[in-house]
Amino acid sequence: MKKITKAVFPVAGMGSRFLPATKATAKEMLPVVDKPLIQYAVEEAVAAGITDMVFITGRNKRAIEDHFDKAYELEATLEAQGKKELLRIVQEVVPKHINCIYIRQAEPLGLGHAVLCAQPVIQDEPFAVILADDLIDGKVPIMKQMVDVFARHQCSQLGVQDVPRSQTKQYGIVSATNLEPNLEQVHAIVEKPKPEVAPSTLAVVGRYILTPRIFHHLVNVKPGAGGEIQLTDGIAALMQEEKLLAYRFDGIRYDCGSKLGYLKAQIAFGLKHEELHSEFSEYLKLVS
Ligand code: G1P
Repeated sequence: MKKITKAVFPVAGMGSRFLPATKATAKEMLPVVDKPLIQYAVEEAVAAGITDMVFITGRNKRAIEDHFDKAYELEATLEAQGKKELLRIVQEVVPKHINCIYIRQAEPLGLGHAVLCAQPVIQDEPFAVILADDLIDGKVPIMKQMVDVFARHQCSQLGVQDVPRSQTKQYGIVSATNLEPNLEQVHAIVEKPKPEVAPSTLAVVGRYILTPRIFHHLVNVKPGAGGEIQLTDGIAALMQEEKLLAYRFDGIRYDCGSKLGYLKAQIAFGLKHEELHSEFSEYLKLVS
C-alpha cells in the first residue's frame, strides 16, 4: 500500500491577471482575509498527512520561501512586546514535522514542465499536486478526501467539478463513466477545449494525485494549448497505461486566479472569520 507524503506546488506563474499587485511579489502570497493563498494550500496538504512540500518557484517568488522560513527578528520583537498570540500565529505557519523544498523553474514553460521539475525530489512515489489559486473550502479538506480515495484505489486521480459549458476553454475537461458515488473513471482528457467540441462539462480544478509514471510522459510531451507543456497532455498519455480516476470533491471552489473568484473568496472567508463574521455580515447587509 503506497501513501502520499509529498505535495508539489507549482508557483512560478507570472500572475499577470493581478498586476500591478503581483509586479514585485508572488500571486500565491495574495491574502484571503489574513492568510496567503499558498498557506491555505499547504495547510490542506498537512491535513492530508503530507509532510514534504515541494515548491516549484521562479523569479519574484522569494516571499514564498521567506513566508515558510523562521522569522527571527519578527519573532524576537513579538516576544519582547509580549504579543503571545501573534507570536503563536507566526510560529505555526509551518508545523515542526514539515519539510519545505524549493526548486527553481528557470523558464515558465507550462504546468507540465513545472511538475516535471519536481522529479528529482519525488523520485518513485505517488504524489499530490495542488494549485494554490484554486482555493477549495470543504468540511473535510479536499486533498484529505482525495488521499482517502487513493488509499482504496491506488491510482492517479483528478479533482473535478461541473462547470458551465461556456467555460470549458478555461479548464482541462474529462470524459468519464461513473464508478461509484462521486467517483468516475476517465477515458479522455483535453486541455481547454472550446464549448462546441468539449467532451463534457466536467473540469479539472487544481488538485491531482499522480503516480511517478507521469514523469516518463511529461519528458515526451510537446508544447500544446497556449504553446505550453501541459500537465493535461502528460495525463492523457498516462491514462493509456494506467487507470485514472476523477473525484467529484465535496466543497466550494473559489477561482482565485480571477479577480471575481478572489473577491468571492474574500467574502466567504470574511463571513466565517472568527473575529470578523458578525460585523462583516452586518456591513454586507447595509451595502447590499
Ligand atoms: C490549469 C490546468 C487545467 C486545469 C486548471 C484548474 O490551467 O492546465 O487543466 O483545469 O489549471 O485551475 P490554468 O488555470 O493554469 O490555465
